[in-house]
Amino acid sequence: MTTISGNHFLVIGATGVLGGAVARQLVTAGARVTLSGRSAEKLVNLAEELGDAVVKTIPADLTHPGAPAEIADACGDLDGLVYAAGVVAFGPVSELDDETLDELLLVNLMAYIRLIRAVLPQLQRDSVVIQVSAVVAESPTAGMAAYSASKAALSAFGKALTLETRRQGIRVIDVRPPHTETGLVDRAIAGSAPRLPQGKDPEAVAERIVAAMVDGEKDLPASAFS
Ligand SMILES: NC(=O)c1ccc[n+]([C@@H]2O[C@H](COP(=O)([O-])OP(=O)(O)OC[C@H]3O[C@@H](n4cnc5c(N)ncnc54)[C@H](OP(=O)(O)O)[C@@H]3O)[C@@H](O)[C@H]2O)c1
Repeated sequence: MTTISGNHFLVIGATGVLGGAVARQLVTAGARVTLSGRSAEKLVNLAEELGDAVVKTIPADLTHPGAPAEIADACGDLDGLVYAAGVVAFGPVSELDDETLDELLLVNLMAYIRLIRAVLPQLQRDSVVIQVSAVVAESPTAGMAAYSASKAALSAFGKALTLETRRQGIRVIDVRPPHTETGLVDRAIAGSAPRLPQGKDPEAVAERIVAAMVDGEKDLPASAFS
């Protein structure tokens, strides 16, 4: 079980649809939040909306190798962390260019690993770490090979991290949502999305994530969202 009220959570990707929804729900439950995202303007707007519950905003571009350590330096002690930053790309592997591959791996995976490395000493006992992976970690998908690989690697990292941090009382939840109507697929950094069935409601996905934080769950597979 994790107490939300009065506790301090860092939300990375707070300027995104899922990250923003989780941040709002944490604040509604009484949390204090530090918000990070790439867009300084979106961060300011969200901070204005959430008012006194916002401890700090930290604009950061996660493709820069130093950014995760700078976020960790700025945020102080934490009772939890939500990593909801991410990018997606579509298209066959034969058309995957280096720039796209680098951005996918930097934002979806490497920045998270660097952030965890930097922030571990600041995570208090009984902290909870949410890493937003995706259903493609369970079912790698044609036309999304590099995205699938970035998310599967994130999930693998989370499993090993769980084993390393258990004694510190840190709970790591790997979250693998199915397709969700956040508009992410229309913001792909390469290619265009195939026709997709209607996705999940972002508010409901965020609610499920916060419930897992509160209830002491240890894993949130795609099936948990059906
Ligand atoms: N939507 C889905 O169908 C779905 C399904 C499964 C998993 N997911 C995962 O859920 C997470 C959230 O996605 P979403 O659907 O909420 O999409 P979103 O609204 O586009 O959110 C993406 C977030 O990532 C941030 N970001 C992207 N590139 C960045 C960079 N270089 N540096 C710092 N931040 C960066 C964005 O920041 P700015 O807005 O400030 O640029 C934004 O906060 C992602 O990891 C995604 O892979 C999504």
